[in-house]
Amino acid sequence: MSKTGIFAELRQQLAGLLEGERDGLANCANMAALLYEALPELNWLGFYLLHEGELVLGPFQGKVACVRIALGKGVCGTAAQRRETLIVADVHEFPGHIACDPASASEIVVPMLQSGRLLGVLDADSPRLHRFDREDAEGLESLVELLVRGSDFARLVI
Ligand code: SME
Repeated sequence: MSKTGIFAELRQQLAGLLEGERDGLANCANMAALLYEALPELNWLGFYLLHEGELVLGPFQGKVACVRIALGKGVCGTAAQRRETLIVADVHEFPGHIACDPASASEIVVPMLQSGRLLGVLDADSPRLHRFDREDAEGLESLVELLVRGSDFARLVI
């Protein structure tokens, strides 16, 4: 199936998961499981949620990861600070990249924004260089938008 097809299907599946449930933590957890299973060539996918000014590890799939990332640090902290999606073709070339799983070769980080307020980021890692492109960015951004619109984060994000 094409990437467009995969993301269109994922939007439907995520919409189904979000129906009737607005708990932000539960919805992040199910979204991480859904995406990790459906998207090929990933070794890690999950969320970091903003807590008292830093990113704190949230629901994820993959190996254990670093728990706290300051804004402006690593790929996650940089994407969060800039409030824009970052595609890193080769993490070894990214100054300040935080290596959690040595298998990671490329990465994409999508900020989660609700009415201009930063909630956290969605982070995906791949063992293949150049794994992520603009289509992945747009696909993941639309899924994050669905998640944010359909969930309450007030209890989680301070
Ligand atoms: N590589 C990330 C850290 C998080 S892990 O990949 C799960 C970064 O540089 O921000």
